Amino acid sequence: MSERFDSSAVGGKSFTAVAINCAAKAGEWIKTKLGNHTSLSTKYSAQDLVTEVDKGAETMIRNLVGTHFPHHSFLGEEGVEPGPEASTKALQSVRDAEYLWIVDPVDGTTNFVHGFPFFSVSIALAYKGEVIVGVVYDPMRDELFVAEKGKGAYVRGRRMAVSGEQTLRESLLATGFPADPNYALPLNMKGLQALVPRVRNIRSGGSAALHLAYVAAGRLTGFWEMGLNAWDLAAGVLLIKESGGTVTDVKGSPYDLGVRHIAVSNGHIHDEFLQVLQQAEAGS
Ligand code: IPD
Ligand code: CA
Ligand code: CA
Repeated sequence: MSERFDSSAVGGKSFTAVAINCAAKAGEWIKTKLGNHTSLSTKYSAQDLVTEVDKGAETMIRNLVGTHFPHHSFLGEEGVEPGPEASTKALQSVRDAEYLWIVDPVDGTTNFVHGFPFFSVSIALAYKGEVIVGVVYDPMRDELFVAEKGKGAYVRGRRMAVSGEQTLRESLLATGFPADPNYALPLNMKGLQALVPRVRNIRSGGSAALHLAYVAAGRLTGFWEMGLNAWDLAAGVLLIKESGGTVTDVKGSPYDLGVRHIAVSNGHIHDEFLQVLQQAEAGS
């Protein structure tokens, strides 16, 4: 883990140290449960899965955060009713909180259920609506991606920087296949169809938070996906901003906690990327 990362205190207590501790503890526990989960159910759609491990990891993180910061607000995926309307409403009810922890306890539940070793814990802290700490932890590779606003982003103690590709033609992108079959999935497919012939290749690893971390680390040139939630995005977005990348919605508007249709990149390809999505009507 990132021993060399300076998790200095923000506002008197080290928010970053608590975020790292929560992600590491939850991640280690999730790893022990790989292949051992006992309950599996669906939420909003047949593709939207949840296990007792998602719920247990969220409880663990909520309790740890609450011990350190009892007056902070908390938005975790498993504490919210499933579906896009319910998650928009849940965010509205807390987004003006002074300090808000935003948590996806297992990002990549489908992978976790199948034993496909690509999933993560995503933890962000927002201050008055702006993300100031972002941590994404991949327990299978023991990779901890950490960012603090204004202080850079790190993996394994090394400062991250986005990649240098200048055009779509030389880009490696990633996307996901959203669990919402009515709105988000068809739009994502339009984008996929338009982009595949224009880029080097496209990956879909199954964890939006890890894809964002990989853009920050320069392992992917860009990522887009329709219909994500604040808990998928908040931590990874800070990683990318602090690594010199560009983060907007698919129409080019700046990121805020309510953005669901995300497009991120190393910055160099951003205009070309958005142009192809817009031409394909993949963003509305
Ligand atoms: C999902 C993953 C996946 C993305 C889906 C998300 P979950 O999160 O990030 O990569 O394509 O849209 O819902 O349900 O595993 O936390
Ligand atoms: Ca997620
Ligand atoms: Ca999740």
